[in-house]
Amino acid sequence: MKSEKYTQLLKEARALLQDETDLTASLANVSALLKTHFNFWWVGFYLVKNNELVLGPFQGPVACTRIAYGKGVCGTAWKEKASVLVPDVHEFPGHIACSAASNSELVVPVLRNGEVLAVLDIDSTEFNHFDDADRENCERLCALLSDLF
Ligand code: SME
Repeated sequence: MKSEKYTQLLKEARALLQDETDLTASLANVSALLKTHFNFWWVGFYLVKNNELVLGPFQGPVACTRIAYGKGVCGTAWKEKASVLVPDVHEFPGHIACSAASNSELVVPVLRNGEVLAVLDIDSTEFNHFDDADRENCERLCALLSDLF
């Protein structure tokens, strides 16, 4: 079920990205795709700008606007240049609680030539919501995005 939804989502993302080169427009639509297919609590992007992460297009409640390198789940994914899957955010040292309703989280970096350009952040109100299928498919999605930057 989940893998079929991601297959469809990736197909729609490729079609959207093929017709649009603007970064903001594309990240906004990719956020909307993830929200509409999976109804995540919060889904969106933080972009690396002047050595910090700055909030970009997203779907969901108001979120913190800036995250420092190495801080929180997002800053950790940036520092490690790797996806971070957090089954219980309350157990993650330094987790930044933008919303008290969030209980698990997946952060996937958008990489080009080994550099992090942005991170995709997804929050769920359920504990242990994300697994390797989410991570792998979101990594595929982020791989489609690096040419936009
Ligand atoms: N929880 C994130 C901060 C961003 S919000 O979840 C939208 C973190 O710890 O980096």
